[in-house]
This record gives sequence, structure tokens and C-alpha cells, in this order.
Amino acid sequence: MVRGLSSKPIVLKLGGSVITNKEKPLTPNLPAIQRLTEEILRANVALIVLVHGGGSFGHPIAEQFRIMEGYKDPLQILGFSKTHQAMTKLNKLIVDSLINHNIPAIAVQPSSCVVTKAGRIKSMQERPLKKMLEMGFVPVLYGDAVLDSEIGFAILSGDQLVSSLAIKLNADRIIIGADVNGLYTADPKTNPSARLIQHITLEELRKLENKIEGSKVIDVTGGMFGKMFELMPAIKHGIRAIIVNAIKPNRVYKALKDEKVVGTIIEKDEIIEQPN
Ligand code: IPE
Repeated sequence: MVRGLSSKPIVLKLGGSVITNKEKPLTPNLPAIQRLTEEILRANVALIVLVHGGGSFGHPIAEQFRIMEGYKDPLQILGFSKTHQAMTKLNKLIVDSLINHNIPAIAVQPSSCVVTKAGRIKSMQERPLKKMLEMGFVPVLYGDAVLDSEIGFAILSGDQLVSSLAIKLNADRIIIGADVNGLYTADPKTNPSARLIQHITLEELRKLENKIEGSKVIDVTGGMFGKMFELMPAIKHGIRAIIVNAIKPNRVYKALKDEKVVGTIIEKDEIIEQPN
């Protein structure tokens, strides 16, 4: 029997700095991949789409060939292939780990189902993904080198992909498994008075965006603002997102179970507590 999409999927992103060793090119963090697979298995959610980042697989090669700047030189064509190839290698490690734990994962190449325009997603084939979810599969996508209608090719980040997927698949919520606890008021690595923001609304996020643009300060909070802004289209659609530290055991598990967990929740509107 074919299961209909009766419940909404969760879109989970595993950051590249969690599943790879960012300092060493093409080095996976196999213990982290194994542990996160076990957390996903244990959480046993009905519908889930995974997206992972590039870490030390995609980024160094993409940078070497300046793939993110678009097509400028024929030498970049092989660089595009190499970037994509590195990502498929990392993707295979994730998919292998899931299948070894009896999770029916399927690799889905963004370069084959997404076209961007000046780096932003213009079209995405979501029908196979919907069908996979209906059948009980776990699609596994990733940040990838993709074709672009304006600049030839581009780098599609996992975060942009997550937001689009969540909207197209009518997701229940987004979980971002990062290498930090969430969004801070300042960079926690350099500023000891930085505080973790536990909850932020779209309006508050917009205010922060204006402040940042106005002051020309680039991502002073440890790299999280860029991620938050990519999530904004999905949040606008009413999809809740939570950022958790996926390096810390059980945070992703708790987020998958919708249990209370250290992290930053981003929501369209303020939650109004109902009196009992
Ligand atoms: C980048 O994806 C993919 C490539 C460089 C090909 P992300 O931007 O989502 O990766 P991380 O999570 O930051 O490593």
C-alpha cells in the first residue's frame, strides 16, 4: 500500500563542519556521521528529508575553481565536475551510514533537479521527492554545484536548499544541525558577554538584518546570521525552524522529537501562551 503524505515532513540539515573535519580537505567526521545516524534512527520520525553541507569536501574545490562566481573560464568546467564529485563522495558516506542502520535513504543530486538564476533557486523538481516521502524513503540532498540560467553555474548552499524544500514539501519544521548552540547576540568565540538567543520572531530577525546592513558589519555572531536569512522565506510561510548544536550528542535527537533543547527557535510570530 502507498502511504499518502498524511503528516508533514521534517527537513533536517547537517552542517558541513559537523560531518567533516573542516581543517583537513576531504576528511569526513565518521564518528559524528555514525552518532547522528543513530539519533535519527532512535527518533524514528515518520517523514524526514536530509540535507547536508559541504565542509571540507565541497568548499575547498569550489573555492579553488571559483565556482560561486559563475562561468568565466573553460578551466572551471572540470572544477565544477570535481566539486560535484567531492559532494557525491560525502553524500555516499551519509547514505551508506543510514542504509547500514536500515534507514531507507536515497541520494538526490541537487545538480540534477535544481536550476538557479544568479545563485538563487529558480526551479526545482519536487515531484520525485514527494513521491519518495509517500513511499517511506528518506531523501538525502546536499549543498552542490548547480547549473545557473544567468551565470552558467553557481554554488547552491544547503541552507538555501532547506528553505525551498521546506516550502515545496509543506514541511512541519526545519532543524539546522550546526557547530554552535544557535544564534548569539555577538560572536561567542570572541565576546564573553555573548548571549544565546533562545527564541526570535521574523520581525525581530528583520530588525537585526536592517541593523547589520546599516552598519555594514558582516556576520558578527559566529556565522549564523547568513543561515537565518536563508531560512526567512520558509519562516514567512509559517514553518518553524530551530538551530541546534549537532556536535553535542542528543541535541538533534531532542529537536527531532520536538523536546525542549538548547538552541534558537525562529518563528513567524510570537507564541502566545494559552491559559490552562
Ligand atoms: C556547500 O554547502 C556546498 C558546496 C560547497 C559544494 P553548504 O554551504 O550548505 O555547506 P556547509 O554546511 O556550510 O559546509
